[in-house]
Amino acid sequence: MRCIGVMTSGGDSPGMNAAIRAVVRTGIAKGLTVKAIRRGFAGLLDGDIREMGVRDVSGIIQRGGTVLQTARCPEFKDPKGQRLGLRRLNEEDIEGLVVIGGDGSLRGGLALHNLGVPVVGVPGSIDNDIADTDMSLGVDTALNTILRALDALRDTAASHERAFLIEVMGRKCGYLATVGGILGGAEMIAIPERPFALEDVADVVQDAYIKGKNHALIVVAEGANHGISEIADFLREHQVDFEVRVTILGHVQRGGRPSAFDRQLGTRMGVAAVKELLAGSSGVMIALSGRKMTPVSIEEATGRQREVSGEFLEIFSYVS
Ligand code: ADP
Ligand code: F6P
Repeated sequence: MRCIGVMTSGGDSPGMNAAIRAVVRTGIAKGLTVKAIRRGFAGLLDGDIREMGVRDVSGIIQRGGTVLQTARCPEFKDPKGQRLGLRRLNEEDIEGLVVIGGDGSLRGGLALHNLGVPVVGVPGSIDNDIADTDMSLGVDTALNTILRALDALRDTAASHERAFLIEVMGRKCGYLATVGGILGGAEMIAIPERPFALEDVADVVQDAYIKGKNHALIVVAEGANHGISEIADFLREHQVDFEVRVTILGHVQRGGRPSAFDRQLGTRMGVAAVKELLAGSSGVMIALSGRKMTPVSIEEATGRQREVSGEFLEIFSYVS
C-alpha cells in the first residue's frame, strides 16, 4: 500500500481533527502518501481530494469541528454513487481509506469495502449510538458541554423555583441524556429506550416540589417517545406547582474544544486505523474496548442498535 485517503463524514464531532492529524502523520511516518477527501462522500464523488503534508495538520488538535469539513451525501447510498466513489479512488491511486464518522458513514465505508477497497473506520459521533465500542469520538466533549449547561440551568431554576425540561441530542439513543442526567443531578431522564407516560413526568416534578426541592431538572433525549414541547404543555395543563421552562441545547453540543479524553481517543484511533490498513485489515472500525484499541467488524457494529446501559439506569434510580 502506497497511498491512503482520509475523510470525515456525517455529523461532526469534537476530536475528529485529532484523528485526522494522527492519520496524516502516522501515514507519512510509515512512508505512505496521504490524501484528504473533503466533505465526506460528497467530496469523494466531486473529486475534492488533495495530498496532505505533516504541516497541513498543524494547530488543529485543539479545534472542534473538522478541518476536512463534512457532509451528508444521499447519492452515496445508491450503488451507482458507490461505483463512482470507487472510480474516484482509483483515479487518485488511493489504495486504502480511513472513514471517520457515525454509523451511516461507517456503512458507506462498508459499501466501499464490499467493492474491494481496504477500509478502516473510526467511530465519530456525539450520540454514542455505535455498538461494539465503549465510546465514540466526541461523546466526552458533548457530555461536558451538557453538564456546563445543566449546572447553569440549575442555578437559575433554583433561584426562581422552576422546573426545567432540557433537550439533548442523541438521535434514537439515550446515552447523552442518561449520563448527562446522572452527572448533572437531574430528577428524571426521558429516553427512547424506555418509553414513559406524560403522567410520569408530572409525578416526578410534583414529587420534587412536595419534598421541598427548589427546582427540578428533567433531561429529555431528542428521540424520546414524547417530545419536549408536548411534555411542557402537559405539565402546564396539569398545573404542577413549579413554573415550567424549556431549553433545547441543540448544536452547541456538537462543537467546541475537544476534551483531553477526545483528543486522546482521536489520536489513538487515528494511529490504530493506519496500522490496521497496513496490516491488511478491511471492513473493520477501531473500537475502544476497556483501555485497548480493538478492530471490530463494521458490519456487526452497524447491524444492530447499541443497548442502553442497565448499569447506568440502575445508578440513576439510586442517586436521583
Ligand atoms: P452519521 O455518519 O453521522 O451517522 P449519516 O447517517 O447522515 O451520518 O450518514 C452520513 C453519510 O454516510 C450519508 O449521507 C451517506 O453519504 C453515507 N451513508 C449512510 N448510510 C449509508 C449506507 N447504508 N450505504 C452507503 N452510504 C451510506
Ligand atoms: O448524529 C449527530 C447528531 O447531532 C444527532 O444527535 C442529531 O439528531 C443530528 O446529528 C442533527 O443533525 P443535523 O446537524 O443535520 O441537524
